[in-house]
Amino acid sequence: MAFPSHRPRRLRTTPALRRLVSETDLRPRHLVLPLFVREGLTEPQPIASMPGVVQHSRDSLRKACAEAVAAGVGGLMLFGVPAERDAVGSAGVDPDGVLNAALRDVRAEVGDTTVLMADTCLDEFTDHGHCGVLDASGAVDNDATLAVYAEMAVAQAEAGAHLLGPSGMMDGQVGVIREALDAAGHTGTGILAYTAKYASAFFGPFREAVDSQLRGDRRAYQQDPGNVRESLRELALDLEEGADMVMVKPAMSYLDVLRAVAETADVPVAAYQVSGEYAMVEAAAAQGWLDRERTILETLTGIRRAGADVVLTYWATEVAAWV
Ligand code: PBG
Repeated sequence: MAFPSHRPRRLRTTPALRRLVSETDLRPRHLVLPLFVREGLTEPQPIASMPGVVQHSRDSLRKACAEAVAAGVGGLMLFGVPAERDAVGSAGVDPDGVLNAALRDVRAEVGDTTVLMADTCLDEFTDHGHCGVLDASGAVDNDATLAVYAEMAVAQAEAGAHLLGPSGMMDGQVGVIREALDAAGHTGTGILAYTAKYASAFFGPFREAVDSQLRGDRRAYQQDPGNVRESLRELALDLEEGADMVMVKPAMSYLDVLRAVAETADVPVAAYQVSGEYAMVEAAAAQGWLDRERTILETLTGIRRAGADVVLTYWATEVAAWV
């Protein structure tokens, strides 16, 4: 054959042709911004391993949320860092605890113009840093933890969250939270289930962001990075228990899991581009080794292409202004 008759390059010739045949859209509405609020701060405090991300004061949090909404982001996900921790994470349940107080502030600021989400998990609030309460042997006690999540969920719904994000990977967490919300009259508050969450090294910078007290690891409740079938089992359980949306986390090292979940789920699917994914790109870009903007857009496009309807990313506000 002298010349190829099939020429895929024809459709790449001009920007207009490329735009016409583009398969994957990235819009501000697809992006959710995670934010940290720390009790007692008067000024935002930088997080060294996440350049550009801060622990907010209650005041600076409100402003950052208003900016994100003005940029058009689809949602906000709040994490709280309390001043005092204890074995059972009381500050997470307390209606006046930092996360619940911040949810009230932000809901008052943004109303229903975006989707306000809350991390429903104990690790930020416990003095041992685990996502649940411990039994006498020091292991995370699944069912005792569920009782605390139920209380925490009701407090977060009352504080104004539209969607709750249980991220602790306890068995039955979605069902127990659904039941508690319904019993308290919060039938309209939704659950964004952390369906497939892996015991990942990419959570490293997050531990600094929330001053995590954890020693050891979370392998007894988060998933083994080598497993994918197990995620489909978690998906079936979360859907049966009433999840309104499901999530895969981290994102970039788990795009096959995301694809598998997206092909099976009959609810919207989210992916969380976590702290270590952010830090990795920022560090390389700071060295001049990667083109920062192109790299960020490529990571987010890849996550959308793999099947995410929604992407949680620390770049949400900035990227919303680009796209
Ligand atoms: C647990 C939680 C974690 C993250 C979100 N929720 C940390 C963990 O499981 O160790 C990590 C998010 C990130 O790394 O950006 N509440």
